[in-house]
Amino acid sequence: MTSHQITMHHLAGLLGEWRGPASDYSTLAERIRLLVIDGRIKAGARLPSERALAEHLGISRTTVNSALADLRASGYVRSRQGSGSVIEIPGRTGDLPIPRAGDMLDLSRATSSAVPGVHAAAERALRRLPARLTTDGYELSGLPTLRETLAALYSSRGVPTAPENILVTSGSASAVSLIARTFLAPGDRVIVETPGYPHSNDAFRAAGARLIPTIVDGEDGWDAEEFASSVTRALPVLAYVMPDFHNPTSRSMSASVRGAVVDAAARNGTILVSDETTAELDIDRLESTIPIAAYDTAGSTVVSVGSASKTMWGGLRVGWIRASTTIIDRLVAARFSFDLGAAVLEQLITSELLEDLDAIIAYRRDLHRASRDTLAASLTRDLPSAHLHSVDGGVAAWVRLDTPVSSALTIAARSRGLLIGAGPWFGLSGEFERNIRVPITATPDAIERAVTILAEAMPEASAPHHAAHRAVL
Ligand SMILES: Cc1ncc(COP(=O)(O)O)c(C=O)c1O
Repeated sequence: MTSHQITMHHLAGLLGEWRGPASDYSTLAERIRLLVIDGRIKAGARLPSERALAEHLGISRTTVNSALADLRASGYVRSRQGSGSVIEIPGRTGDLPIPRAGDMLDLSRATSSAVPGVHAAAERALRRLPARLTTDGYELSGLPTLRETLAALYSSRGVPTAPENILVTSGSASAVSLIARTFLAPGDRVIVETPGYPHSNDAFRAAGARLIPTIVDGEDGWDAEEFASSVTRALPVLAYVMPDFHNPTSRSMSASVRGAVVDAAARNGTILVSDETTAELDIDRLESTIPIAAYDTAGSTVVSVGSASKTMWGGLRVGWIRASTTIIDRLVAARFSFDLGAAVLEQLITSELLEDLDAIIAYRRDLHRASRDTLAASLTRDLPSAHLHSVDGGVAAWVRLDTPVSSALTIAARSRGLLIGAGPWFGLSGEFERNIRVPITATPDAIERAVTILAEAMPEASAPHHAAHRAVL
């Protein structure tokens, strides 16, 4: 395995506010362990020296030394004279063998298999391909036919849109990265939701941005006043929100909050990026909503991001951006050094599937409803101390635990064969130890098994050797 150095700056960013009111070697070790499990520190990464860790983290070398010893004992670090401490994925943790990767029940990602009909749509798309082969295939803004269909879709939902307002991307992840790269310079501020979607936060960080949190409460959602005062104080270049359905809490923004959020952004010249990757995954939301772009009457504030991934299939890698033509033109110009467009055949398949969008959404709704209801029943039966808020749609439930043991619980669950996202993964600085994200994209059977494992792992997560962790986070 080749090793590479992880810089102190990078590690400090990943650790965030790991220590809480106290610092302790086991807290540091556990935090690093979780970053490894989440894939945020890769096997082979060489940690900074003990002295650098102690100096930058403001703790004693003894504490660092003990944390490294703890990581070595649990198989997460290999230390060699002269070559420092290198991260490893352990073969065993504690007394339980770690299941092989293929045997793990993976609920760390809120994803699912393709909707029926993708293969048939691909066959139809293939028949349309020859007409495209006489072109050079570089569609920097996206295939005209797909842009037209998407524009019509936005217009039918109350947001008048022309094809020139649409830019097709390789999934919404690529859309967010392109937006970050186009509009941000090092040191710029970006408001992000907390808890929030970690990969988008990473895209903003990669562009050099400073992230400023705005809270999304698992029960009550957004606080429009707090958002507006953050925007007024920080004057961020971008604010990034997920109005439908927020990942991980699944909250949906009320109409009045939508209006207030757009208003605050517009008044302060902030571009409001609305990630609507999961917007169509409605199960039984009470209030019918219109997209947040409808509140942007001048049309220059909201940049909407959409995707085929959650309704149709993630393997299509098709997403899109809807914005003013001025913004779209800037994004297209920036794209020359980015990816030069999305794949033509996948865009043709997506445009075929969009013909059946209503049926596709209905199919997902039935699956997600069954999974959500199974989650509620399983928690009541096996883990009654956990609290499940209402989940009206989206991809995940933000389950609340009665003690702050989320990191320890995911570690204990991993050795029993379950991969699942600990609460702190969705925060900016180690918070959310009382939450765990359970994807409702998983099948009811997988959810039932996952809850059984969580219930079995809970006594270990709550055991005394994790007490220091509980006390400080
Ligand atoms: C909020 C949010 N944004 C972006 C993405 C990435 O989606 P895509 O597959 O379209 O890149 C996801 C996927 O889970 C998501 O939940």
